[in-house]
Amino acid sequence: MIYLDNAATTWPKPNQVTEAVAKSMKYYGANPGRSGHKMAIRTSEKVYECRELVADFFGLSNPANVVFTQNSTMALNFAIHGILKAGDHAICTVMDHNSVLRPLFAKSPDVDVSYLGADSEGVIDPSELEALIRPNTRLVAMTHVSNVCGTVTPVEDIAKVCRQHGILFLLDASQSAGIIDIDMQQMKIDLLAAPGHKALYGPMGTGLLCINTDFELAPIMQGGTGSYSKELTQPLELPDRLESGTLNLPGICGLAEGIRYINRIGIANIREHEAKLTAYLLDGLSRIKDINIIGKKNTLGRTGVVSFTHNSKDCVDISSYLSSNFSIATRSMYHCAYKAHEALGTSDGGTVRVSLGVFNTLSEIKILLYALKNMM
Ligand SMILES: Cc1ncc(COP(=O)(O)O)c(C=O)c1O
Repeated sequence: MIYLDNAATTWPKPNQVTEAVAKSMKYYGANPGRSGHKMAIRTSEKVYECRELVADFFGLSNPANVVFTQNSTMALNFAIHGILKAGDHAICTVMDHNSVLRPLFAKSPDVDVSYLGADSEGVIDPSELEALIRPNTRLVAMTHVSNVCGTVTPVEDIAKVCRQHGILFLLDASQSAGIIDIDMQQMKIDLLAAPGHKALYGPMGTGLLCINTDFELAPIMQGGTGSYSKELTQPLELPDRLESGTLNLPGICGLAEGIRYINRIGIANIREHEAKLTAYLLDGLSRIKDINIIGKKNTLGRTGVVSFTHNSKDCVDISSYLSSNFSIATRSMYHCAYKAHEALGTSDGGTVRVSLGVFNTLSEIKILLYALKNMM
């Protein structure tokens, strides 16, 4: 199989990730933070080890500010619902995923939401942000990289404006964590949501909320934390404040190995590999009759998430053809980001999305281009 659906979740996972998951079931089978026996202590140490790795990876000084979630959606919901109160105003962009758009919309009419626009290549102009800011703007939330077309958001410019106005900045790093270097302190990112299962190469069922602010998020979930058991109120300290219930220990052990894997290869090398394949793919697509590349046409300001349409063929039919005849996995139609499709001019039918990962090779891209060229 040629797997080109890495924006949905990466596959395959590095061997060390699958091995760590299996090993955790055998040797770290206790509930961390709940009991004082040897295996429980060993398991708690494993969880802390992963927190430290994540904190280090995103430039956070305190590992306690790393909250484990099931996915990026859960992390975004924890942040959005934990921050916004009635009377607040929030800003996001038209390039955002439903994991940002829907929780924000769910707060209406108590919370007003404004949308920063994008051009036909998915580019956001940070100078347009100031005009949307109101005295009651509490949160700016947006994606780092478009999951539709791979366009990169100018995060540092946006974050600077947010700091100047004392507004919290939440970055949806679902399509960037593990692909673009992120230092939350340097880049002035207050909150970061990331999936463990995409470009961090951890298992599905893992996600992260990283917190770089003193703002005390209201927990949207309460329950057992193994701490302050006599109290009926949720503990105030992080991560317990937001981390109720039993953790996904096998997932966390796998995620730790995913991060170690990336650290060993180096993000710069991962980026270089993806850029090389993306350049080849874009060039090849631009030469195929009737195919239109959506978003940026070269590798500047974009990642290896590449969308295209066809002048006469339906996107779903193209993905089915690729899967049935060549075992090539892509995704088609709308990618949980309809406003982005409107901005990109693909609201009528969506796109075929090819998304690259660290294990893809040039010969796989060549087969994809051959398949598309020979489509009847
Ligand atoms: C930009 C973006 N945000 C959020 C998500 C949601 O991620 P998860 O599936 O981990 O909840 C995705 C998933 O594709 C995404 O691409």
